[in-house]
This record gives sequence, C-alpha cells and structure tokens, in this order.
Amino acid sequence: MTLITLDHLEKRYDNGFEAVRNLSLRLESGKFTVLLGPSGCGKSTTLRMIAGLESITAGELRFDNERMNEALPKHRDIGMVFQNYALYPHLSVFENIAFPLRLRREAKADVDARVREVAGMTGLAELLDRKPKELSGGQRQRVALGRAIVRKPRVFLFDEPLSNLDAQLRTQMRVEISRLQRVVGSTAVYVTHDQTEAMTMADTIVVMNKGELQQTGTPQEIYNNPANRFVAGFLGSPTMNFFEGNFSQTPQGWHFQEQDGMRLHHAQSTILSAFQGKATLGIRPENIAFTPFENDAASDFANGSAEHALSFSAKIERIEFLGNEKLVYFSTQAESPAPLKVLRASIGGASADIGAKRTLFVKQDASTFFNERGERIDCR
Ligand SMILES: Nc1ncnc2c1ncn2[C@@H]1O[C@H](COP(=O)(O)OP(=O)(O)O)[C@@H](O)[C@H]1O
Ligand SMILES: [Mg+2]
Repeated sequence: MTLITLDHLEKRYDNGFEAVRNLSLRLESGKFTVLLGPSGCGKSTTLRMIAGLESITAGELRFDNERMNEALPKHRDIGMVFQNYALYPHLSVFENIAFPLRLRREAKADVDARVREVAGMTGLAELLDRKPKELSGGQRQRVALGRAIVRKPRVFLFDEPLSNLDAQLRTQMRVEISRLQRVVGSTAVYVTHDQTEAMTMADTIVVMNKGELQQTGTPQEIYNNPANRFVAGFLGSPTMNFFEGNFSQTPQGWHFQEQDGMRLHHAQSTILSAFQGKATLGIRPENIAFTPFENDAASDFANGSAEHALSFSAKIERIEFLGNEKLVYFSTQAESPAPLKVLRASIGGASADIGAKRTLFVKQDASTFFNERGERIDCR
C-alpha cells in the first residue's frame, strides 16, 4: 500500500508551455482516485510525472516518504493501462500478460500459475492462445489490464482506458476495473474526462482545469458542494442553471435578487460565490419541478403564500425523452409575445420568480406528462 504525495508539482514543457501548475495532492493508499477535467487540462501530464515518463519541472513527488522525482519508471513499481491497449501484436494473450514476469526472469511454473490466475480474474481464461488481432476491443483492454496487474504493482495508473470502447462495454469494464483494484489493493490513479466514470468509480475525485487543481472530494461532495463555477458546470448533465445577482443575509435567511428579475429565498441551491453582495447562484436541473400553473397559484404567489413556488412564463424549446426521465429546455419570457403556456415550478424550499429570458435545463420524471406546448397530457 502506497501513499502518493504531489507537493507543489509543476510541469513546463520544452516549448515553455506550463501544463501543470502548483499541484499539491495526497493520493491515499489503496484508494481509487480519479483525475477529472476537460481535454488538455494536464491530467495525462500529471499521470506521466507519477509514472516517471515525464520529467518534473519543480516540486516533489513522493511514494510514502520516499522522493521519486529522479527514480526510473521501472523502479517505481507501477502498472499502467492506456487508452490504446499497446499490446505486443506478435505475442499471444498468455505471453502478453506474462511479459512483465518474463522480464523479471521469474520461474516458469510461477509465471504459468500467475498468468492463469489473472486470466481467470479478467475473464480471459478461454482466450490465452489468441493473438491481439483476434480479440474485440473490450477483450484487448482486458489483456492490457491483466498485464498491468500480473506483477501486483504497488501503484495502478490508468489513462482513459475505456475511451475506445462502446457504451455498454464501458459500463461493464468500469465495474470490472473497480473490482480488480479492490482485490489487488494497489493505490489507483485514473484519468478521465468522463464525469460518469469519475462519479461511479472514484473514492476521491480530483477536478483539474487549465493545469490547476479546482477541487478534491468524494463524488457526493463534488456534486453537492462544488467549490467554484467551473466544477459546478463541469459535473452534471444537463449542466447547472446559473444566475447572477445581489446576495444578502437577512434575519429570515438569505435573499437573492437577480438584476433583471428573479428573487429567491433559502433555496436548496448552491451559492457559488458571494462577494461584496454579488453572488452566482446555481440550481441543478433535477431540483426544479413543474406543476401546471393554475389561476389561483398566481394569486398565491402575489400574496406571498406560495412559499415553495417559483413562477414564470416559459416557452418549451425542446424535450428530450430518455426513457426514465425527460430533459426539458425552455426559455423564460420567450420572444414570442404570447408564451405558449405558463408553468409553475418549485425549487425545494424556495420561493422565487424568474424575469429574464434565458434557457433553463430541467429534468423531469418520464411520468410527468407535459407535451411540447406545456399542456398536461391525459394518459388514462
Ligand atoms: N510534449 C509536449 N509539449 C508541449 N506541450 C504539451 C506536450 N504534451 C502535452 N502538452 C500540452 O499540455 C497540456 C496538457 O496536456 P495533457 O496533460 O495531455 O492533457 P489531458 O490529458 O488533460 O488532456 C495540453 O495543452 C497539451 O497540448
Ligand atoms: Mg490525456
């Protein structure tokens, strides 16, 4: 078990580009840490510095208490899996998996036993005589996985290993990689731009952007308490709805007033930044719910009794049906002089109204029946 420490790590490439800046992290022993961020944010550079495949410009890398900056890759005891499987095409599955053990000149009987054990764990027992070109993408990635775990390395590094697989296989391999890591118990660092992989596989997510750390936390912490607007917008699909406005604390709780109209009190939403009275408010699509806007609701709202309501005129722009849920895209105060329908929305614990024209993303259960015109569908 190995604790990996990144202490103010920096990477400047030969052309002067700073790919990683001032990155300090503790990657806990035996845990599964996911580095998550958009393409080009420095994830692979970070991983390759841990592996010893890229030099470290400044800062210190430690495995437990040992400085690793200068250690050769082969002395770091790492198993690595890449996006392109990087198998030896002329070797069988058996020999591909056995390769790291052969390099160490291990006894034939030991190699045999260990390869068969790993083949069993990775579902390759029947395929040991095949060559890589006779395998599917998923099977090839399993061979790469088997080759990485066969030595029981103290550290596993994964760089977008599932990107080349189709959606169904990705889901299956996610589960298998998590399971194998738990069985082997090595410290794992997994790089991906895919939020679903990060949310489902990670003990800890490290969010990066433009070479810098944005936030570290469990999937729940990152999703429920994003540290800044980048993190809030990067996780969640469709993306969080953002509002800019004035923020104040009152004896009754906090109060938010958007310049062009929306007011909100005490919502279960995220105040992303509050600085000298200015705030950015974020509301997740799944936290907005709709009911048809009845006439009495309008007066409830006017006289303040609709405490949990948010009301506004909206035009539904698009509905995407996803089986278990629907995504509704609509604009408030649509340009059309007569919005097609007025909907009433509730945000847990909030009262609010929205004035400005904007697109909101909303998730609804597939069992809420509104059609494109905002009318309730009778489905008896
Ligand atoms: N050898 C290199 N020389 C110069 N710049 C590089 C080199 N390798 C990567 N970069 C740049 O560093 C940034 C981070 O790259 P990378 O770590 O591969 O990103 P990610 O894996 O997050 O997509 C990118 O802008 C990339 O273009
Ligand atoms: Mg990369």
